[in-house]
Amino acid sequence: MSKILKSLGVFLCFLGVAINHAYAQGVTVHVAPGTPGKFTELGQRPQMGWNTWNTFACGINEKLIRDAADALVASGMRDAGYIYLNIDDCWQGERDAQGFIHADPQRFPSGIKALADYVHAKGLKIGIYSDVGDKTCGGKPGSRGHEYQDAMTYASWGVDYLKYDWCNTEGLSAKGGYTTMRDALRAAARPILFSICEWGDNKPWEWAADVGHSWRTTGDIYPCWDCEFNHGDWSQWGVLPILDKQQGLRKYAGPGHWNDMDMLEVGKGMTEDEDKAHFSIWAMMNSPLIAGNDVRSMSAATRKILTNRGVIAVNQDERGVQAWRFSNDGQLEMYAKPLANGGWALMFLNRANQARAYRFDWGSHSISDRLSNSSVDFGQTRYRFTELWTGETGDTAKPYAMTVPAHGVVMLHLQAK
Ligand code: GLA
Repeated sequence: MSKILKSLGVFLCFLGVAINHAYAQGVTVHVAPGTPGKFTELGQRPQMGWNTWNTFACGINEKLIRDAADALVASGMRDAGYIYLNIDDCWQGERDAQGFIHADPQRFPSGIKALADYVHAKGLKIGIYSDVGDKTCGGKPGSRGHEYQDAMTYASWGVDYLKYDWCNTEGLSAKGGYTTMRDALRAAARPILFSICEWGDNKPWEWAADVGHSWRTTGDIYPCWDCEFNHGDWSQWGVLPILDKQQGLRKYAGPGHWNDMDMLEVGKGMTEDEDKAHFSIWAMMNSPLIAGNDVRSMSAATRKILTNRGVIAVNQDERGVQAWRFSNDGQLEMYAKPLANGGWALMFLNRANQARAYRFDWGSHSISDRLSNSSVDFGQTRYRFTELWTGETGDTAKPYAMTVPAHGVVMLHLQAK
């Protein structure tokens, strides 16, 4: 790095420390007159990609990243939309005498810039991870007091995405910490998607629409249908508990600022029906779709689920309206999501341990949503539909007899005739 860049970094680093202190004390600081905030052109659709954490945790190295990039291309995941290849915690080595962060020299000897070049040459984008505190959750150096310097370093490496965690932040203001990094990213002048990973502790949905492109709404996911994995002072959550924690949050999400239900556990040990349901729920709720399985060795069934174009299109729909539960019959729940061009997605979710036969009588249902100003009266308008997992087609003229698998879904895409 040139001397000029280094001195600029040191200056920005001091500026960052000052701003961080000011925010922690609840003072509003304007970085520079006219600073325009986050990169609003990013995140217009929920981001899609792959992340190292769910399968590899801290066991990562540069060969894994290259192999994952190759696999994202060869498996068709890139072409299905999984563009971001995100390196999670534990890529970091030490800071140097000037405070610049470096990748772990043993596991990333070529450095992140070389990896970014490799990933970009594959038609992918690269993501990295840091933390508001002085240490990450994995005990590596965090960005506290180095925000501007780190943002500049990431930009100089060609990074496109930052996941920013919330460990070791006792006494800090979440809004302050995340806003400091937002401003640092803007000052570094490379459009970097900013993924807030604060687990919902400080209600980021209330303050982060102008700060990041998505915010985690819950603690970490665990590959199970309906469980809590209690670690003592924190828990991981299965698919249904995470869904249930989204109550009341849909009004906060939309293009450029999404509720993030955490990375996908598809292909990580749940049944195929559970994986399909998990993927469908995340799609309906407009959560970012960040796969977390070992893409180098996934089964054909897992690949098929993750690359289901119809389900992905529901997630990526340009209106960006998050689904809501419009009805239920016992453990069978019905969700709706209005789409662009007058289409709708409907999801029938069976929470129960047994398959459920159900007859949906279109004529007796009308669905309306004040938030998105959308409504449909199936008694009035006729739709044709496709079931997005089986390809079965039908028409709303007569009741639809379906069997929803145990821990599974039926997911319909409807288009007016
Ligand atoms: C937190 C995050 C996870 C992961 C780990 C890394 O638990 O919520 O998604 O990034 O830290 O240490």
